[in-house]
Amino acid sequence: MSKRIDVSGLTAYYGSHKAIEDISMTVEPRSVTAFIGPSGCGKSTFLRTLNRMHEVTSGGRVEGKVLLDDEDLYGTGVDPVSVRREIGMVFQRPNPFPTMSIFDNVAAGLRLNGSYKKSALSDVVEKSLKGANLWNEVKDRLNKPGSGLSGGQQQRLCIARAIAVEPKVLLMDEPCSALDPISTLAIEDLIGELKERFTIVIVTHNMQQAARVSDRTAFFNLAAVGQPGKLIEIDDTERIFSNPSVQATEDYISGRFG
Ligand SMILES: Nc1ncnc2c1ncn2[C@@H]1O[C@H](COP(=O)(O)OP(=O)(O)OP(=O)(O)O)[C@@H](O)[C@H]1O
Ligand SMILES: [Mg+2]
Repeated sequence: MSKRIDVSGLTAYYGSHKAIEDISMTVEPRSVTAFIGPSGCGKSTFLRTLNRMHEVTSGGRVEGKVLLDDEDLYGTGVDPVSVRREIGMVFQRPNPFPTMSIFDNVAAGLRLNGSYKKSALSDVVEKSLKGANLWNEVKDRLNKPGSGLSGGQQQRLCIARAIAVEPKVLLMDEPCSALDPISTLAIEDLIGELKERFTIVIVTHNMQQAARVSDRTAFFNLAAVGQPGKLIEIDDTERIFSNPSVQATEDYISGRFG
């Protein structure tokens, strides 16, 4: 089967600090992969190496390979901006552009990509808001600021913004950690719908969430504080939560540490 993402031997640094070491994994198209593991083990760092956001941090540096549909994202001549268009990101705290309207928030990425006729832009904005299960709640106030929405609505607005440019992959770093339980379930349902069209990688501290939304689960861990984080195992989610291969995974998911 073809791989959407194929990572091999990936190590990432912040200056001289090696945050993650020698990570290899593959991700199938139209699947949800969850990253779990204790705080500081490098889940966010690894996620950000997948769309070249890591190097935006000062001292951020990567060794190894990340292929997207067989293309090396770190190859010479590859434009990091185009990589981030193909691999979008949703953050922990909803971050709509505060002074922009709901409409303009969703249209922002499209406008950067080039000129659209107004009607075409409206169509994509509507389709993206529908895709993010937000359309019915905002269709009568598209010109109001995005910052006026509830937290859960703002997160769905950020998802609408991310999917408007039709990326291949959506990276989500604890997208529900700032949300109430109802909004969390809404995002989880949405993830189930979005995986029909996108490949999704999500970091979560919520074991139930990983079990509910993902097809595959990757467990990361640190041998000791100050050591780089490593991928301990990746497998079908059902197997990770019922019969993992490594004792440390079992200990983590059953709440014995972390
Ligand atoms: N901007 C940064 N500058 C320097 N070191 C950093 C930076 N961001 C993260 N680190 C370090 O990299 C390591 C991995 O951090 P990272 O944020 O990726 O972990 P995480 O698994 O996402 O943790 P959490 O579950 O708390 O979000 C840690 O040792 C952290 O201190
Ligand atoms: Mg993190």
